Amino acid sequence: MAFPIHRPRRLRRNEALRSLTRETTLGVPSLIYPIFVCPGRGVRSEIQSMPGNYRWSVDLVAEECKMVRDMGIPGVILFGIPERKDAQGSCAYDPDGIIQRAVRAVKKAAPELLVICDTCLDEYTDHGHCGVIKDGEVDNDATLELLARAAVTQAEAGADLVAPSDMMDGRVGRIRAALDKRGFQQTPILAYSAKYASAFYGPFREAADSAPKFGDRKSYQMDPANQREAMREIALDIEEGADIIMVKPAMPYLDVLALARREFDVPLAAYQVSGEFALIEAAARNGWVERDRIIMESLISIKRAGAGIILTYFAKDAARLLSA
Ligand code: PBG
Repeated sequence: MAFPIHRPRRLRRNEALRSLTRETTLGVPSLIYPIFVCPGRGVRSEIQSMPGNYRWSVDLVAEECKMVRDMGIPGVILFGIPERKDAQGSCAYDPDGIIQRAVRAVKKAAPELLVICDTCLDEYTDHGHCGVIKDGEVDNDATLELLARAAVTQAEAGADLVAPSDMMDGRVGRIRAALDKRGFQQTPILAYSAKYASAFYGPFREAADSAPKFGDRKSYQMDPANQREAMREIALDIEEGADIIMVKPAMPYLDVLALARREFDVPLAAYQVSGEFALIEAAARNGWVERDRIIMESLISIKRAGAGIILTYFAKDAARLLSA
């Protein structure tokens, strides 16, 4: 008979007891802030479906990154919107492409800030898919070579980590080999290992103008119904040399995060994606939820599920709240 001996409420009576017995904490050093870079000069244009997030031209992005660094946030992940798109996504691996120029500018302005590059073709292809098209399908093996070139040019520009998000089979191994061959043995790979074919990427595709022009991404991104398959994807990425694994989106996939944390002994990241941001932001702007509290609750939930690293559009808000 547990009650009245056991009274879990005893440890909840005041904040000192609650914080003494708290199981999970969230700190600014776990956060990564995503940033979009666009062509032009002096551009800071707000993304309609992601209020408070902007597309920055290369000349302004460094200032924004200095602010991020000054808030104690350890890193950013950069996404590029190129001057032009083509079938091969060639701006993704142009040594002087938008992202390569942005990396150089940011590393010069804020050398301590970790710069992560999203390694993918979708922002750069005119058809919007994450790989090259052959006979109406995304050709896995032909895409690997282009991804490897993209990763090498990103590392050459100064990227601290590369993050393949394309979901082609074998890309981690191919990128690892290409980086090593060019002398970048020390550049870690953060692999989007369990990336689902998700409607939660909607606002991102507006931001990057990267929605596929035909079909969808279901032949390479994962089926939202699958959990065991995520473990297989992660195991393969680790075998191929992934240093950090990631689950994406975050909140709808907390079970996948928790299982990954139990099964694998490598650092685990989660991406709280654009749609997760947009849902919270829209409700908060309507006065339907308390913005600050819901931000912190969403992030602690992702941490509790097992993520040590969180990529989130709320990174600056969370940093402000955590240091208040
Ligand atoms: C692909 C990529 C996407 C996101 C990150 N990397 C889009 C996609 O797969 O369609 C989505 C991130 C977000 O929604 O915040 N380069």
